[in-house]
Amino acid sequence: MADTDVRRHADEYRRSIESPDEFWLEAAALVDWRHAPERGLDDGAAPIYRWFPDGILNVSENALDRWVAAGRGDQVALAYDSAMTGSKRTFTYSELLHEVALFAGVLRNNGVEKGDRVAIYLPMTPEAVIAMLACARIGAVHSVVFGGFAANELAVRIQDSRPRVIVTSSGGLEPGRSVEYLPIIEKALAMIIGDRSVTDAVTQSIRVVSADELSVETVIVRSREAVPGTAAEFDGRVGVRWADWDEELAKAEAVEPVAVEATDPLYVLYTSGTTGTPKGVVRDSGGYAVALAWSMKNIYNVDAGDVMWTASDVGWVVGHSYIVYGPLLAGATTVLYEGKPIGTPDAGAFWRIVEEYDVKVLFSAPTAVRAIRRVDPDLIELARYDTSTLDAIFLAGERLDTETYHWMDKALHCPVIDHWWQTETGWAIVANPRGIEPLPVKPGSPSLPVPGYRLAVVDGKGRQVETGVEGNIVLGLPLPPGSLPTLWSGDERYVSSYLTAFPGYYATGDSGYVDDDGYVYVMGRTDDVINVAGHRLSTGTLEEAINHHPAIAEVAVIGIHDELKGQRAAGFVTLKHGASIDHDVLVKELVALVRETVGPVAAFRDVTVLERLPKTRSGKILRKTMRQIADGETYKVPATIEDPTVLEALKAALAAQ
Ligand code: COA
Ligand code: AMP
Repeated sequence: MADTDVRRHADEYRRSIESPDEFWLEAAALVDWRHAPERGLDDGAAPIYRWFPDGILNVSENALDRWVAAGRGDQVALAYDSAMTGSKRTFTYSELLHEVALFAGVLRNNGVEKGDRVAIYLPMTPEAVIAMLACARIGAVHSVVFGGFAANELAVRIQDSRPRVIVTSSGGLEPGRSVEYLPIIEKALAMIIGDRSVTDAVTQSIRVVSADELSVETVIVRSREAVPGTAAEFDGRVGVRWADWDEELAKAEAVEPVAVEATDPLYVLYTSGTTGTPKGVVRDSGGYAVALAWSMKNIYNVDAGDVMWTASDVGWVVGHSYIVYGPLLAGATTVLYEGKPIGTPDAGAFWRIVEEYDVKVLFSAPTAVRAIRRVDPDLIELARYDTSTLDAIFLAGERLDTETYHWMDKALHCPVIDHWWQTETGWAIVANPRGIEPLPVKPGSPSLPVPGYRLAVVDGKGRQVETGVEGNIVLGLPLPPGSLPTLWSGDERYVSSYLTAFPGYYATGDSGYVDDDGYVYVMGRTDDVINVAGHRLSTGTLEEAINHHPAIAEVAVIGIHDELKGQRAAGFVTLKHGASIDHDVLVKELVALVRETVGPVAAFRDVTVLERLPKTRSGKILRKTMRQIADGETYKVPATIEDPTVLEALKAALAAQ
């Protein structure tokens, strides 16, 4: 590759690594500060790093008030489009500011102060954006829980973050059914206080506490016509006040943004780790605002007045960063789409939105592209719409396989850009920085490390491997602004989860390699995290749910290849001695159990009953070998295997299905 091809990006990258303080203090000018930072990195408590220790700002003010003051009050900030109900609504910057300031008043009236947590369990409706920005306005820390998670997952998150208020709605809409949220919340709270009149479900991840110890005081409910359930029906249940959104708004007064320190937390977002207990990723205020503002221009090439549509969910990091904060911090218009890429009503949904809202940048996941391809392989739907405003499609969330890439790239007039990141980093680690300099695309690679990230590939002992050799992808410390400073449960878990395996580095949990041009190839996880339709799940969480079935002795859940979703969860179980249960009944009960405890998003359907699980002599389940067999790959029988015949039995059981 000629040197000139990457010169500007290379210059920016080098500067970010050689003079990080200078680089990021310069980027900090993209944000409005109450007190502009004079210091970049605070490394006083390494390996816990903080950015902009003397900066003071308000992120909600940056996302809203700032643009109204700059004359963008009449520009659309948020365009809501629900393919589920057919409703559409736009909010200008002035209107969104008004709603947010008022809802901040609701939170205040309900005792929420700076630093308090607020759980947000909402579908893809404007209330989600309003509630998040209202928290930010008063310095409260939001914790959004994805609507596809059920009671146990919600309870675990509530127990860890200890919110004072939960903001919710009567429910979400999925094709052909509605999801009632209020019974799920009631069940989650009942699990925490051990209220057996509501639920008998008890899981290891929840420590039952007395009703007095429950942090939640109020559940604010936005009723929607399409889903039954009101605050009045639930008020008083599980010892909590359930209040109606509209009634609360009628009593509230608009609230001004409060000043917070750059290092104060903006939100906590839970993500799956290797154990059944999710990790609460902490996001700071100043570093995140700077990183997102920088990324909007330099990675996505989105400026004030442009339209960005991120077809994800506010429950995921992609939604936090590029449905809510990123576009609004840039003065752009964001589209909030409640619907699917296919079936709501057809595979033209994406192109309709692009045409209708003049979308410049679309951000989605490879699984959505595969879904469209399956239904509309010749892209007949695309031809029905004018998508000429589209400048690029960005994809993330899982590996972009080359077949999907080529299919989409051939059909579109604009580039298809893969980029790699994770909940922990909050924004891209490896990307094609289109705003700095569009780099040549290499299919299968998300391109080069983004400024600020010192990426390396190391072997199991932490030694850097050669170009082209696969190993653990790690990031040199300190991480750039925007990336997690720590975990909500404390520095200790942060250090042991991410910083201990390879001293001096943050372990991403992904494996991959770098080629001669420095392009990074991300191949998959090195831990027990699986990625189902771009949703990150822990096999440990699924195993814990399955273990609760009375007939189950042992279980191993692994991620196996799936044409549409990339991966899907497959459960291998053994039955307790003497347990007798019809196979079909068992499968039905396990599927229902996972759905009830973890949530429908686990999309758990595959169950294989075995006499024994394949293990090493020390009792470790041979997950990798199991996955290779299930995926039909060649495999080596591990030397440490306890009994090789168990693998034959596994193959026979899979073949019989
Ligand atoms: N609330 C309740 N249930 C939900 C939900 C939510 N917010 N989101 C998904 N579910 C349910 C679905 O209805 C489905 O239920 P079912 O088993 O009754 O059919 C189940 O969870 C699995 O959902 P999903 O894996 O999303 O599959 P799907 O068949 O509904 O849709 C795709 C498949 C590919 C269209 C869809 O997964 C998709 O658009 N993915 C994009 C991923 C994404 O944006 N990831 C974010 C990271 S960038
Ligand atoms: P999440 O934290 O839910 O965003 O999931 C992050 C994980 O998804 C990463 O650690 C990767 O395993 C995977 N991932 C995300 N984006 C990509 C990508 N572009 N290529 C390969 N894997 C990806």
